[in-house]
Amino acid sequence: MRRIITLCTILLLFSIGHSKPNAKWWQSMSLYQIYPKSFKDSNGDGTGDLNGVKSQLNHLIRSHIKAFWLSPIYPSPMVDSGYDISDFLGIDETFGTMEDFEALVKAAHDASLKIILDFVPNHSSDQHEWFQKSLKSIEPYTDYYVWHKGKVLPNGTVTKPNNWVSVFGKSAWTWREERQAYYLHQFAEAQPDLNYENENVVRAMKDVLRFWLDKKVDGFRVDAIQHLCEDVRFLDEPLTGNSNPDDYGYTDKIYTKDQLHTYEIVQGWRQVLDEYQDKAMMMEVYANLTMTIKYYVYGAHFPFNFGLISDTNRDSKAADFKRVIDSWMLNMLVVDGPANWVAGNHDRSRLVTRYGLERAQAVTVLTLLLPGVAVTYNGEEIGMEDTWISWEDTKDPQGCIAGKEGYEKASRDPARTPFQWDNTISAGFSTNPNTWLPVNKNYVTLNLAAQKEVRNSYYSLYKAVSALRALPAVREGTLTTSLLGDDVLFFARFHEDSVYVTINFGNKEETVDLSPFIQPYNQSDIRLTVYYATINAHHLIGTVFKDIRALKIPASTTVIYI
Ligand code: GLC
Repeated sequence: MRRIITLCTILLLFSIGHSKPNAKWWQSMSLYQIYPKSFKDSNGDGTGDLNGVKSQLNHLIRSHIKAFWLSPIYPSPMVDSGYDISDFLGIDETFGTMEDFEALVKAAHDASLKIILDFVPNHSSDQHEWFQKSLKSIEPYTDYYVWHKGKVLPNGTVTKPNNWVSVFGKSAWTWREERQAYYLHQFAEAQPDLNYENENVVRAMKDVLRFWLDKKVDGFRVDAIQHLCEDVRFLDEPLTGNSNPDDYGYTDKIYTKDQLHTYEIVQGWRQVLDEYQDKAMMMEVYANLTMTIKYYVYGAHFPFNFGLISDTNRDSKAADFKRVIDSWMLNMLVVDGPANWVAGNHDRSRLVTRYGLERAQAVTVLTLLLPGVAVTYNGEEIGMEDTWISWEDTKDPQGCIAGKEGYEKASRDPARTPFQWDNTISAGFSTNPNTWLPVNKNYVTLNLAAQKEVRNSYYSLYKAVSALRALPAVREGTLTTSLLGDDVLFFARFHEDSVYVTINFGNKEETVDLSPFIQPYNQSDIRLTVYYATINAHHLIGTVFKDIRALKIPASTTVIYI
């Protein structure tokens, strides 16, 4: 085994995940997000469904995925593509039946895949029976939602309680004549916020978790958790200086985000999970690092790490990527939780569109080879690109609220189009030429079937690098990160074996010296095999370098050595 020199000034050596006895399945899984409307349509109606998912489990297995998470599949008017739920305990008929769901759980487990559901606790649909009864003040539902009589101005007019703004833009309050009150919605008007000050709501939502755990799901991805509770004094939030009161950025979210009560509710959900065996809870949280990490302490198995989404882009320097990695890993030393890396999801522009091809590949390698959990949004494994969607075809409420002039900037539809399986009709996603969102025209060449045939494709990179996750060094090795000049990020994973990665983010060739990281160093006996190099996606498996003091890394290239 090669010994490692730790040069404290330039290296950060983490021992996270090192040889943990009794490691749990969620600690080092490759997790795949399925957006059910767009994954695979089994009945030709143009929208994906559960039987479609079941028919494609082999793709997950071949891609070394260990668990998959389904975005919402519950009954919904689909104002927010299923994130507006009208029955927390059912299956929307577009996706199939409860029997289809049970068959999917069984098929997943038979294939040793874990299945994770989206738990959406912040709000329901306004069509949910609870809201309809709350509107009419029918007990016990009267206070299931956040109602407010409004502010009475000196001239007697009743107006909105305060200046809170919805995430999708415009006021977070909507008036209902029936109830003579405003209700709060941190998202669309059709998504009224549940009231966690009400113990009946707290209990009812715990029962939702139990319902699906009894159906043998393996865990939950918890939606929009930072918005769960609000400060009940309902005070105005401070202004940020943004002059548009309809913009989410108009106020500083000190009363509508990251409230202590939210963390306490999460603790309660963890107790529910612990009534069962081996269940996992992961949080979708967009907050600063401190408020994000705090979820580890309050019972989440992990909050998603969105550093690669929020803090890096096509202009970031190698040091920016290193900062994102090191800051998360330093926190792992404190909370002893599994790290995780998320680079894309259904709310963000596709990786290739956001970063450009070469950088997207580098980021894919980072997510797959850094310690802990790797998260992949369906389609990123083949490098799908954002699809231009016309105003007429726009479905996303965030796009619709922005209007014809602003929708292109706001809409999340471009990252949600159907999965490109092959070059047949509707990219093999559906037999129907009319799909719920249009298929990207590039499917003729950019599709899974074509990429399987080609050694230098995005999918070949994804699959080959995913295979490395079985190595002890990647599964449970330590992590070292270092900057080799302004443009090159180096990291290594060490266990009994070693994996080394150099990423040249710059636009000219760099020569790097890896000798400080590898011992014993002797020019004649060091053999570093290039496992993969992404030179415009060229695949160089098998090349051997001897002089590790002067390795050449071409511009915009990631090289993995073993
Ligand atoms: C989460 C989902 C997003 C949805 C929002 C409201 O952020 O990822 O798609 O619109 O919650 O439920």
